[in-house]
Amino acid sequence: MAEVCYTTSMSSLFPNPPATGHSLPATRPADAVRAFLALRRSAGKRTLGPPGPSRDEIEALLTVAMRVPDHRRLAPWRFLVFSGPERMGFTQHAEQIHRQEQPDAGEKAFADTRTAFERAPVVIALVSSPDRDHKTPVWEQELSTGAVGYNLLLATNAAGWAGCWLTEWLCYSPGIAKLIGLSSHERLAGFFYIGTATLDPQERMRPDPDAKVTFWAG
Ligand SMILES: Cc1cc2nc3c(=O)[nH]c(=O)nc-3n(C[C@H](O)[C@H](O)[C@H](O)COP(=O)(O)O)c2cc1C
Repeated sequence: MAEVCYTTSMSSLFPNPPATGHSLPATRPADAVRAFLALRRSAGKRTLGPPGPSRDEIEALLTVAMRVPDHRRLAPWRFLVFSGPERMGFTQHAEQIHRQEQPDAGEKAFADTRTAFERAPVVIALVSSPDRDHKTPVWEQELSTGAVGYNLLLATNAAGWAGCWLTEWLCYSPGIAKLIGLSSHERLAGFFYIGTATLDPQERMRPDPDAKVTFWAG
């Protein structure tokens, strides 16, 4: 079995991976990871406060988040990070777009948009950026981007913050796409709200494996 030497760390959060081509263990039994996965939950969207990760810590989280299965190594995604007071400028523009695109949405909805990024100290937009002409189907590229999103939540939780994946109206708005600078082949996979939990979530209903799993019987 491969022995991995973790030399320097990319931050205090995660070890650096070895150089490309170095062996890595294919199996990594870990009680803590099993418990972590079995008990994972997202934070409620109104239960996140400061502190959030610093710039270095955000980069470390995103580096780990990108460590996903990716057919033909296209890395068909990118991120846009909103942190600090500058993030409020985005939602001020978003409110104007909301008013133009959904004039009947109501003042409460417009206020929610204006204050959306106040819900967490760090908000990260995950952009699906597939190569539509590549022989890897776009669907597979999008699945890989979804894996990045989930991995970001896992990395966030494991590093001590709470997180929540939201699309809301923003991810489907032509005006927001333009504001963010999406190309015609790109879509928003979601906004990841990251901070410190002010309230622990409760367990929610989970799918019954009997209703979801079939064993091929020939
Ligand atoms: C792609 C995607 C978009 C989502 N968008 C929203 C949303 O806009 N609003 C919302 O309340 N929950 C949204 N959710 C659900 C929450 O992120 C979260 O998964 C849900 O509250 C269940 O919590 P859990 O992750 O602990 O199971 C979305 C989830 C996914 C995967």
